[in-house]
Amino acid sequence: MICENISVSRDGSHLLFAGQDTVSLAQEYGTPLYLMDEERIRSRCRTYKAAFARNFGPGSVPLYASKANCFKRMYQIMQEEGMGIDVVSSGEIYTALQAGFDLSKAYFHSNNKTDWDVAYAMDNHVGYFVADNAEEIKAVEREAGKRNFRQQVLLRLTPGIDPHTYEAISTGKVDSKFGVAIETGQASDLVGFVLKQPHVELCGFHCHVGSQVFAEDVFERAAVKMLDFIAEMKRKYGYEARQLDLGGGYGVRYVESDPHLDIDVKVDEVARTIHSTCERLGIREPEIHMEPGRSIVADAGMVLYTVGTVKTIPGYKSYVSIDGGMGDSPRYALYKAKYTLYAANKMAEPCDFKASVVGRCCESGDIIQAGVMLPSSIHRGDIIALCTTGAYHYSMASNYNRLPRPATVMLSGGTSYVAVRRESLEDLVRNDL
Ligand code: LLP
Repeated sequence: MICENISVSRDGSHLLFAGQDTVSLAQEYGTPLYLMDEERIRSRCRTYKAAFARNFGPGSVPLYASKANCFKRMYQIMQEEGMGIDVVSSGEIYTALQAGFDLSKAYFHSNNKTDWDVAYAMDNHVGYFVADNAEEIKAVEREAGKRNFRQQVLLRLTPGIDPHTYEAISTGKVDSKFGVAIETGQASDLVGFVLKQPHVELCGFHCHVGSQVFAEDVFERAAVKMLDFIAEMKRKYGYEARQLDLGGGYGVRYVESDPHLDIDVKVDEVARTIHSTCERLGIREPEIHMEPGRSIVADAGMVLYTVGTVKTIPGYKSYVSIDGGMGDSPRYALYKAKYTLYAANKMAEPCDFKASVVGRCCESGDIIQAGVMLPSSIHRGDIIALCTTGAYHYSMASNYNRLPRPATVMLSGGTSYVAVRRESLEDLVRNDL
């Protein structure tokens, strides 16, 4: 099985997720359905927390990247697990607030925060802004000045590192739309500017090199570049950064051929590089942060669908259409992302039928996965499970073709509960006048 929280019922016929029968869950809650394994989310948080406690000094915390999957219950879990959060919009801030999350542990990202966002975040006491550019620093200075306080800020830098992931999610290169480049000297100039702002407290620096990263030493190389920059700022301005945030990005297994990353080992490796580099440069070791999203929630998720039609075009190909699609699972349509699928009620049958599993949107690109092997008996009413869907599915879902978004059901300790209600047809017209 692609992840250890996936197994098969005793008689071999049904797929289990977090020990629970997915066919019964589909019957109870309907499909399409997002499932989330709460224990898995908590155990990933604990792995990061323990690795940070073991390796880094006080104040160093992992920050859950909300963009991976954001709803109220998720923030409550993050709060209970002692995680900080990365938020990227007023919408994520509002959701965290509604969940009762302590926003002093929130880091506000985005390459374009509007004046309204800046004011909203300040009024709600978001702990840190991760500022992307000089325009933002000016807006933060203006709004903080009006409120007569100093806003804590990190600067987002591009260390010029190619993480060998796909282009759409590679963000740390010099020509990125995000952050300020170290290589061009712009980052250094911006630090000089920030240090002159009376209502901005510069706490340190941030970088994020990309997502779904497996390449060996990407985080180590980024850490060295960032620490070199910290040392340069100390020489140039006498300013020593208190925090270094290395962003998110560790990859997860979607298919058998993806490697398995051991977060404990990875964080230990980065920590060794940080310790030795700080010593070499003669700088105080900053508080360290990272912003894992995918590696916290991806393999805690699964989507269940019901098969509607099976169509074979002799001499060409076969299609299995399901009752969801790119609206709830857009990653194949966007990135040709690979996934593992199972026929959840036919686990004992051999998979000898090749088909593309497709959605119900009016678009040929609405594909869940092309050319997968399924049992040849697959027909209307069967349940298809799409694995590793806890990250960037619900958070990227849309109502394209006016399809309501699925419910999210949490699995915990052998029971289940609804964390996000299924959208109704009434929900779809809620804002229509
Ligand atoms: N921090 C920053 C500043 C980020 O931009 C991201 C992701 C993260 C942390 C979390 O990265 P993670 O640990 O989840 O890899 N929609 C794409 C992924 C976009 C990632 C955007 N930024 C996908 O579905 O693959």
